[in-house]
Amino acid sequence: MAVARLALDPRRTVGPVNRRLFGSFVEHLGRAVTNGIYEPSHPSANEQGFRKDVIDLVAELGVSVIRYPGGNFVSGYKWEDGVGQVAERPRRLDLAWHSIETNEVGLHEFAGWVASVDSELMLAVNLGTRGIDAALSLVEYCNLRGGTALADERARNGRVDSFGIRMWCLGNEMDGPWQIGHQSADDYGRLDCSGDEGVRPVARAGGLRLVGCADAHLRGVGTGGPEPHLRRRRLHLLHAYYEEQNGDLGSFLASAVDMDQFIESVIATADHMKAARGSDKIINLSFDEWNVWYQSRFENVDKINGVDNWPIAPRLLEDSYSVVDAVVVGNLLISLLRHADRVRCACLAQLVNVIAPIMTQPGGIAWRQTIFFPLALTAQLARGESLQAQLSCDEYDTAAYGSVPVVDAAATHDGQAGRASIFVVNRSLTETTELTVELPCLTGDTAGSATTLSDADVYAANTLINPKRVGPHTNESLTLSDGYATIALPPVSWTVIEINQISPGAGEA
Ligand code: AHR
Repeated sequence: MAVARLALDPRRTVGPVNRRLFGSFVEHLGRAVTNGIYEPSHPSANEQGFRKDVIDLVAELGVSVIRYPGGNFVSGYKWEDGVGQVAERPRRLDLAWHSIETNEVGLHEFAGWVASVDSELMLAVNLGTRGIDAALSLVEYCNLRGGTALADERARNGRVDSFGIRMWCLGNEMDGPWQIGHQSADDYGRLDCSGDEGVRPVARAGGLRLVGCADAHLRGVGTGGPEPHLRRRRLHLLHAYYEEQNGDLGSFLASAVDMDQFIESVIATADHMKAARGSDKIINLSFDEWNVWYQSRFENVDKINGVDNWPIAPRLLEDSYSVVDAVVVGNLLISLLRHADRVRCACLAQLVNVIAPIMTQPGGIAWRQTIFFPLALTAQLARGESLQAQLSCDEYDTAAYGSVPVVDAAATHDGQAGRASIFVVNRSLTETTELTVELPCLTGDTAGSATTLSDADVYAANTLINPKRVGPHTNESLTLSDGYATIALPPVSWTVIEINQISPGAGEA
């Protein structure tokens, strides 16, 4: 058995964990909306046509913020098509995904659905086929209380109160050549700044936050809106997807090494620019698309072609996730927690049916994919401050990232509740690792438990036929003593250790 040691001290913190770190993303793509969250003929559908079984699973997942309506889709979207009488809404070509968009679900319906799952709506504007004018109209429509044509139109459309949307993405991956209306990072930067100036008065009037995006290849810019005192805050947006390639499981399991490097290189660049300009603005990050995504499957199997072939809600990007995918997702969450001081928002892409933790069968069941579990448990248990984690363990060689640690971990401490949570992965393909956690505030009264996701078959998955094949289980090997916790971590596993009744005063300097 391999061994590893993790030293934690509640006084050594990274920063507070922002609840927006546990967000997700719903794009008008494939069966994410139509025949996903929205299926009026389903036995569980509510009056608005949304599936109640899906609402329950999304609420259980506990996602704090939901980005909408794209993604690549937004760069060809007219937001006006999705408001007003549903019967009068036009059907349009969705050029990003070669489909037809019915517009049965638009801004009002989706905002209502987000409220029903107790989350926050993060809205993206089209800077592909449209521009500042349409974006400003949307901001005004959503957030101005009343007294203008657009705000009054919103009221006539059934929403008297402002939507009060605080998180805005200014376009999507605009410098990516795959993006409709793509442009260079420099051109995007100029457009983004001019939009920012335009949005400011509306932001003040409507009390919103702005988030912007600039430099692409799976990167974007977003703006978070003004604080209560109406100061704007800018976030830089990052996107990253990972997949197992050519059977190289060792490299795939180390994907978080790449996420760490990506985050740290963007922080370094932002800080360099801050210093070079003598600015006092700290640019934080919004990692608003991240996940495991088998993109090669989309390119080779799913992709829709043909001049007369424009389906409604086709099956696209419906990846089935295994245990190993869930371990990678759990590890990517560890990377986000490790950078909690600068990553202030993150969205697992996506939420239902499309590269998703939740799958649905039309007319039938909804079920949790393997990746559901690490996100749900991390969102539930990562509270308070992210802690610095000093880890010593063996390393292994990977083709993609060189030598990497076998174990990776992050931890949080909620001083008020007297709780700590430790999130840990064992990337070894063959060996159990015995982990010893040094946590000086553990006393004889401390209570704890551990939950592990692992399986003898690392490619096991939950499917329509066997929707409960994989799930987390209690890890009985956890022992606690004065100052220490020990636990056995199976090969290819993700674990969370919950520690309660930590002595008061832990974490105080
Ligand atoms: O999430 C799927 C796609 O990946 C999104 O539409 C796009 O933003 C990204 O490239």
